[in-house]
Amino acid sequence: MFGNLIVLVILIALVVLFGWLTYRAIRSKKMWVKIVGGILGTLATLLFAAITFGVGKGFMTVYMPPSALDANLKVEATPEQIARGKYIAQVSCAGCHDPDKTGVLVGGMDFSKEIPIPIGNMVSRNLTPAGILAERTDGELFRAIRHGVTKDGSLAGFMSFMPYRDLSDDDTKALIAYMRSQPPTPNGNDLAQGTQFNALGLLFMGAGMFPIPEARMGVITAPAPGANAEYGKYVATFGECRGCHGPNMTGAEPSAMDPVGVPNARLFTAQISHEDFVKMMRTGKRPDGSDLKMPWENAAQMNDEDLGALYEYLKSAQ
Ligand code: HEC
Ligand code: HEC
Repeated sequence: MFGNLIVLVILIALVVLFGWLTYRAIRSKKMWVKIVGGILGTLATLLFAAITFGVGKGFMTVYMPPSALDANLKVEATPEQIARGKYIAQVSCAGCHDPDKTGVLVGGMDFSKEIPIPIGNMVSRNLTPAGILAERTDGELFRAIRHGVTKDGSLAGFMSFMPYRDLSDDDTKALIAYMRSQPPTPNGNDLAQGTQFNALGLLFMGAGMFPIPEARMGVITAPAPGANAEYGKYVATFGECRGCHGPNMTGAEPSAMDPVGVPNARLFTAQISHEDFVKMMRTGKRPDGSDLKMPWENAAQMNDEDLGALYEYLKSAQ
């Protein structure tokens, strides 16, 4: 954070410097200095002002996100909570926190390696008791999942882009119970983890390249589990389907971040049976045998009830 603060101060100083130089050039008695200096100076001032604005906005987004902390929260960790937490973790969290499929959330996945532009460090955390759990209260873990922020209240990088703000209070507590129940498992790299955006990262965040879902305050309850569209929508939320297919699962247009786009999942699901849908989600192959080119492995971990609810949701009116 301090490095970025210094960059921000230097940027502000450069805007002032170029502004002053432009002013001096315009007031010059030499005509060519007036014109050339005036134009170049104005361009440089505008350019640095825009960069400073973007980095400043990113600074606010990353270091001052809205969140709420319940310092007194204590999760009981009943066997039911642990089992429920394990289920959601396998469906949702393992993709980033258990990249080698060890069965525990050891973390260590480095996203900076997958992004071609250097925007800082982004390594998923070790969520076993050998990782950060000892330094986090239940309230801080709850806040990390609900608001995507780390212990000091700043954004926890990739965590904050995820749909876990919509997880119910009960499911969030179940996840905490499960995290703490895992065997302590070091991953050899625990210190070098978490997110540290550099100034370029802040500029990207300020420009809205990675939009963060709106914060949710207050108690969240989940619909009762069952083979119906309402619960299916909840499954599509923690199952991360809506992040790609859009809030109503009707697909996403191609964009700069995703030049191909994402199809409307409802159109295809309307043409297939419940059985074929479940099979497709478990095998990653459409009924005609073609590959489903999306990360279906998460959905493959879902139980029959949740896949059934997803099917009902996708076949329902939006
Ligand atoms: C898209 C990848 C991704 C997914 C999916 C994901 N995480 Fe994370 N998570 C991260 C990254 C990256 C960090 C490190 C961010 C940081 O601490 O700055 C992290 C950090 C955390 C932290 C530590 C925050 C802190 O206090 O420093 C917790 C707790 C956490 N994740 C829980 C979960 C749970 C529970 C799930 C599933 C419901 C989950 N994560 C799913 C990427 C992910
Ligand atoms: C990372 C983004 C992503 C996630 C997460 C995701 N999908 Fe997809 N989905 C896609 C893409 C891209 C395709 C097109 C795949 C292809 O062309 O083979 C697709 C295809 C589909 C299709 C077939 C559509 C067709 O016209 O062939 C269905 C149904 C579907 N997804 C449902 C889901 C469900 C349910 C979930 C959550 C469990 C989910 N998707 C999660 C990106 C995603």
